[in-house]
Amino acid sequence: MAKIQIVFYSMYGHVYQLAEAVAEGAREVPKTQVQLLQVPELMSEEALEKSGATAAREAFADIPVAKPDNLAEADAIIFGTPTRFGNMCAQMRNFLDQTGQLWFKGTLVGKVGSVFASTGTQHGGQETTITSFHSTLLHHGMIVVGVPYAEQRLLNMKEITGGTPYGATTMAGADGSRQPTKNELAIARFQGKHVAEITQKLCR
Ligand SMILES: Cc1cc2nc3c(=O)[nH]c(=O)nc-3n(C[C@H](O)[C@H](O)[C@H](O)COP(=O)(O)O)c2cc1C
Repeated sequence: MAKIQIVFYSMYGHVYQLAEAVAEGAREVPKTQVQLLQVPELMSEEALEKSGATAAREAFADIPVAKPDNLAEADAIIFGTPTRFGNMCAQMRNFLDQTGQLWFKGTLVGKVGSVFASTGTQHGGQETTITSFHSTLLHHGMIVVGVPYAEQRLLNMKEITGGTPYGATTMAGADGSRQPTKNELAIARFQGKHVAEITQKLCR
């Protein structure tokens, strides 16, 4: 069995929806075990309530909270983050900054790493969020996997759509009301399946 972890943070549910689609894609590959985990929250309940995030977060409240050591159990880790000023969110950064022991021991060396993201706006930093995230994966010695153009939905110019060769993306809109589209969710499923297939080859 190849073990795929999907480790995400989501404030309003957009990244969570992508995470479920990534999981669906990974589950399509035989002999693949998929686990969803969310990184610990850093904001107070009061601040979340003020930001209007409380209700949206109920949809994924039952997803277990990851501990840094959990990463050691995976053959591949697919990370999901909302963009914060063109970068990953602080919750994810804080989680990764607790992986020093794993780095020291080389625990993640040779495991597959991949990233997906959500922004508020179309040009708000999807690519910068994912590619800057890749630096951490490379420091850990992970094998970085994106979404090749074999996924033809990346070429879709008929609508405004997320989806990059670096990883699946969606756009929440400035007020968070836009939801992941069919095209974006399909690209996320492709990413999950693609990572699982590559992981299977490496596990042989
Ligand atoms: C502090 C902060 C910074 C943000 N920075 C950006 C940004 O640089 N570019 C952008 O397009 N959206 C930005 N956003 C919007 C978030 O990326 C958006 O809310 C998120 O993608 C929604 O995903 P979620 O529902 O999973 O939380 C920011 C939001 C917050 C709260």
